Amino acid sequence: MQAITRKLGHQSFKHSSFKSLHPLSDDHYYGYVNPRFASNIATGGTGPLVRKGTGGRSSVSGIVATVFGATGFLGRYLVQQLAKMGSQVLVPFRGSEDSPRHLKLMGDLGQIVPMKYDPRDENSVKAVMAKANVVINLIGREYETRNYSFEEVNHHMAEQLAMIAKEHGGIMRFIQVSCLGASPASSSRMLRAKAAGEEAVTRELPEATIMRPAVMIGTEDRILNPWAFFAKKYGFLPLIGGGSTKIQPVFVADVAAAIVSSLKDNGTSMGKVYELGGPDVYTMHELAELMFDMIREWPRYVNVPFPIAKAISSPREFLLNKVPAPMPVPTIFNLDAIQALATDNIVSKDALTFKDLELAPHKVKGYPIEFLIQYRKGGPNYGSTVSERVSPESYP
Ligand SMILES: NC(=O)c1ccc[n+]([C@@H]2O[C@H](COP(=O)([O-])OP(=O)(O)OC[C@H]3O[C@@H](n4cnc5c(N)ncnc54)[C@H](OP(=O)(O)O)[C@@H]3O)[C@@H](O)[C@H]2O)c1
Repeated sequence: MQAITRKLGHQSFKHSSFKSLHPLSDDHYYGYVNPRFASNIATGGTGPLVRKGTGGRSSVSGIVATVFGATGFLGRYLVQQLAKMGSQVLVPFRGSEDSPRHLKLMGDLGQIVPMKYDPRDENSVKAVMAKANVVINLIGREYETRNYSFEEVNHHMAEQLAMIAKEHGGIMRFIQVSCLGASPASSSRMLRAKAAGEEAVTRELPEATIMRPAVMIGTEDRILNPWAFFAKKYGFLPLIGGGSTKIQPVFVADVAAAIVSSLKDNGTSMGKVYELGGPDVYTMHELAELMFDMIREWPRYVNVPFPIAKAISSPREFLLNKVPAPMPVPTIFNLDAIQALATDNIVSKDALTFKDLELAPHKVKGYPIEFLIQYRKGGPNYGSTVSERVSPESYP
C-alpha cells in the first residue's frame, strides 16, 4: 500500500483539502506542461484531469471513479450516467463475475472496468481505488446476514473507504450515499448505522458530499416490486400500521443524476448533505394505490398493526445467527424496515435538495412506475386504452 501511496500521493488530505474537479480547462491540465499527463488513459489519482471531446460517451470527462456498490440498484443508473459523460468507471465487485457484467455494456471498450475485491481486505480496497480520482460509496444493505451486520456494511465499510481515500491523497471527490432519515436517534438500526457512517466519513473527509436518497423507485426497486409480486400471488397487500406512514419516493435515475451533478459543479456541493426526495409525499397506502392502478388489480389490503408485523418478521432475526444456513431475504416483513416505519420519512424543511443541484426530480406517478406493467395478468396492455398509456415524450 505504501508503494501505492508513494506513487499517487503527491499531496495528502492532512495538508490539503479536496480540489474541485472543475474548472478543468486550465492549461496545465492538458499535459503540455507535463507531458506525462498528455495521455487520456487514466494515470493516477492525483494526475491532472484530462478532458477531451464534446462530453458524450466517447469523450473523456477526466473523472476516473471507483463506484463501490455499483452492482446494486442505484449503481446500474449511476454507472450508465457516468459512462455517458465519458468517465472511466472502476467497478469493484465481490462474488460472481456475472454481477458487474450488465455494466460493461454501458461504456466504450475499457471504459467500465470490473475489479474483483474483498471489502474486508484493506489492500484489495486500496488496489481498486489506486487509479481513481473520485470515490462513490453506494454500499449498503437493509437487512442483516449471518456474515454482515448493519454496522459493518453501513458504517464500518464507509469509514474504511473514507480512511483509504484520505490516505490515497489523490481523491478529489468522495460521495457517500446514505439514507433519508439516517439519524442516531432513529428506531431503525440500519438508519442509525447509516448516520454513524456519515459521521465517520465527514470526520475523515470533511469535504465529502453526503447524499440521502428517500426510498428509490425504478425497474429493480425493492418496494413496488415485492408489493406487486405479493398482490398478484396472494390477491391482497399487507398494509403495515395501516399504511399511514408518509414517505417521499424518488426515481432512481434522479438520484444518479444528483450524484453526477454534484461531481460536475464547482465544488459547491463539497462538504454538504443533500436530501433527495421525489416531488410528492405519499402515505404508504397512497403509494400502494398507485401500484394497484398500474398492475390493474383491484386494491385489496389487510391491515397489519405494527406489533403483529414485528411478530411476523422477528423469527428471521432471532434465527439469523442460530441456524447454520443462510436465512431468506426479507422483503415486506423486514423487522428493521418495519421499525423505521414508525415515523414519517420525508425531506426536512431546511435541507439541501435536488433544487440546489439544479435538478427537478420526476414525479413518481408516470414513467418511473411504468415497469409495473409487467405484473399485469393480461400483458402490458391489459385493461388499458391508448390514451391511458404513458407517452414516450415524458420519458427522461
Ligand atoms: N434502494 C433504496 O430504496 C434506497 C433508499 C435510500 C438509500 N439507499 C442507499 O443507497 C445505496 C445504494 O442502494 P441500492 O438500492 O443500490 O442498494 P443494493 O441494490 O442493495 O446494492 C448495494 C450494493 O452494496 C453492495 N454490498 C452490500 N453488502 C455488501 C458487503 N457486505 N460487502 C460489499 N458490498 C456490499 C452490494 O454488492 P453485491 O452486489 O455484491 O451484494 C451492492 O453492490 C445504499 O447505501 C442504500 O442503503 C437505498
